Amino acid sequence: MNTTETLAIPIPEQLDPPAVTGKVDLDLTTVGDFTVPDPRMKIRDVNVFYGQKQAIYDVNLDIGSNAVVAMIGPSGCGKTTLLRCLNRMNDTIDGCRVEGQVEMDGKNVYGRKMDPVLLRARVGMVFQKPNPFPKSIFDNVAYGPRIHGLVRDRTDLEEVVHTSLERAGLLDEVKDRLDQPGTGLSGGQQQRLCIARAIAVSPEVILMDEPCSALDPIATARIEELIGELRKNFSIAIVTHSMQQAARVSQRTAYFHLGYLVEVGSTKDIFTTPKHQLTEEYITGRFG
Ligand SMILES: Nc1ncnc2c1ncn2[C@@H]1O[C@H](COP(=O)(O)OP(=O)(O)OP(=O)(O)O)[C@@H](O)[C@H]1O
Ligand SMILES: [Mg+2]
Repeated sequence: MNTTETLAIPIPEQLDPPAVTGKVDLDLTTVGDFTVPDPRMKIRDVNVFYGQKQAIYDVNLDIGSNAVVAMIGPSGCGKTTLLRCLNRMNDTIDGCRVEGQVEMDGKNVYGRKMDPVLLRARVGMVFQKPNPFPKSIFDNVAYGPRIHGLVRDRTDLEEVVHTSLERAGLLDEVKDRLDQPGTGLSGGQQQRLCIARAIAVSPEVILMDEPCSALDPIATARIEELIGELRKNFSIAIVTHSMQQAARVSQRTAYFHLGYLVEVGSTKDIFTTPKHQLTEEYITGRFG
């Protein structure tokens, strides 16, 4: 093909910037009720910055007791950032600044009296990639109870480790090799080990950031089943890119876009009758 022919190709009009429907007259005020009758945590007027760049804008959201709230939205919309506000994991990131209030049982998580280490025991986190410590299965689970002084003696500790592994649905698979490295387990088992580690300190809230994204469908199904079980005792906030997963495991869903909480409501309503155009575009696969 020579240059003349290349230049002769007509440029279709659509090559102008594509019309992104959602960007026209965007109203990003949250649609839906962000409160719940029995909040475990309350996020109020939260703004988050990385240096000069703002990542979260005026977010208000309650985390309900014994319930699962799913946080969904396109990549980069701030889901992980908001999740990290809840247990002050953002403190560990240089240049990250959080404004506003996050309350747990009426106390400001960012208040001077709050000890972030204790907070993180009350608000546990499970990450996208399973990250067991390079220790035995037993010691992975025993770690939190030990450092927080939650057990009196070895018998107590063994009890906590067994119960946590059982609640995480892992005990049967590992009970004969508790002294072996946690890193030697399969991905799905490692993620359940991390869940066992998180629940060993009896947290009140568990934050899960795409906990199944590295897992196969069988391991994913186990974790989802487990989330349903854990909900009886814990409050859970889960970030997921899977709409099916959000629909299966959560009672409430929050849809984020460019750092704004665009819509929140019961999972059923969000997936069947979304009110905001952006939510609808996302859940029908037209955006994101
Ligand atoms: N450590 C960081 N330093 C600077 N900017 C960051 C940092 N972490 C996140 N950001 C920025 O903040 C915004 C929100 O990022 P965040 O990781 O919270 O998005 P997300 O919704 O979790 O995305 P994904 O679905 O890809 O995980 C993005 O613009 C991102 O580039
Ligand atoms: Mg993320």
